[in-house]
Amino acid sequence: METGFEHRKRKHIELALSQAHQAVGLAGWGDVYVPYQSLPEMALSEVSLEPGRFFVCGMTAGHSDAQKINRNIAAACVESGWWFGLGSQRKVFETGVADPSTDFLLQDFPSVTVMGNLGISQLIEAYRARDLSRVFKLFSAVHPKFFCIHLNPLQEAIQPEGTPDFRDGFAALEWIVQYSPLPVVVKETGSGMSVSVLRKLMTLQLFAIDVSGVGGTHWGSIEVERAGGDASVHPFARYGVPTVTALRNAARARVGVRGATPEVWASGGVRDGLHAAKSFCLGAERVGVAEPILRAATDSSEAVLAVMRRFEQELRVALFCAGAQSVGVLSERYAESLRDLA
Ligand SMILES: Cc1cc2nc3c(=O)[nH]c(=O)nc-3n(C[C@H](O)[C@H](O)[C@H](O)COP(=O)(O)O)c2cc1C
Repeated sequence: METGFEHRKRKHIELALSQAHQAVGLAGWGDVYVPYQSLPEMALSEVSLEPGRFFVCGMTAGHSDAQKINRNIAAACVESGWWFGLGSQRKVFETGVADPSTDFLLQDFPSVTVMGNLGISQLIEAYRARDLSRVFKLFSAVHPKFFCIHLNPLQEAIQPEGTPDFRDGFAALEWIVQYSPLPVVVKETGSGMSVSVLRKLMTLQLFAIDVSGVGGTHWGSIEVERAGGDASVHPFARYGVPTVTALRNAARARVGVRGATPEVWASGGVRDGLHAAKSFCLGAERVGVAEPILRAATDSSEAVLAVMRRFEQELRVALFCAGAQSVGVLSERYAESLRDLA
């Protein structure tokens, strides 16, 4: 007998794979130009991509369909070196029961860099009870390298079973950063981040902030449909901060912050390697992909790997055409190109 949780997660996957819930064209990629060098003075073969520049955004866990999807993703991550973000581990958080959709990872795919995941609503619950053991339970079976906390106020406000109470949110983040044995990442879920939120997050000792902006999978749209509304006309179906704007917000928020700041990661509507290159130009350290990986993962690990290889090759072409051997050099070339225009 399927539980309400399982039914919801299954529906999320089905709806996420429908084009109707993709905020196509809204990421803002058209405003960013990767510097194009007609004389790159290098060979395409000289481009080198460090592992870990790409990651699979957190998507699914805690139900039976997730197992096949996660196996296919993990197998492809072994080959590609992409990091693997788990979907929300809320079920383990709430029940304390082992999760067959993720617990095979340590045994079968020990080399994969796994990132745990929990929503801010659950973290607030644990914080109010000062119950760290409930959070640490998420780490015991899968041994993640990072712990991602996702922010999703729009989804919580629209989904019928949502918990739209984010009081104590910042305090909960401060608390987990202080006590977590793992580096903490704070991520959005496809509605982006403002300068003011980013400024606050930059003051925490986080490992990274994934701005995850509008431009791809849109949870306002998905939850409107689940709640029986018409996403094509709903005011919140494309609500939030576009990915390009969110990346620029992050650069702005960093200004004046003393000491080291968290890495900035880009996701939300990253659909090819050129989008990834644009993200790197805007200061992202790593780039995440969700929906295209999910689509392939419902098929096979080979299909997932093919998507990963496509992204990497497109990024290589963008780097070559910018005369950049690496992502680090690309950022320098981009800064130079802005100076040339000034
Ligand atoms: C089916 C699905 C489930 C998701 N579940 C989670 C989740 O549990 N936790 C989370 O942090 N983000 C979740 N996300 C959001 C993604 O991590 C990502 O931020 C968002 O989908 C934007 O990326 P995209 O445009 O490449 O899809 C989910 C995305 C999809 C497609």
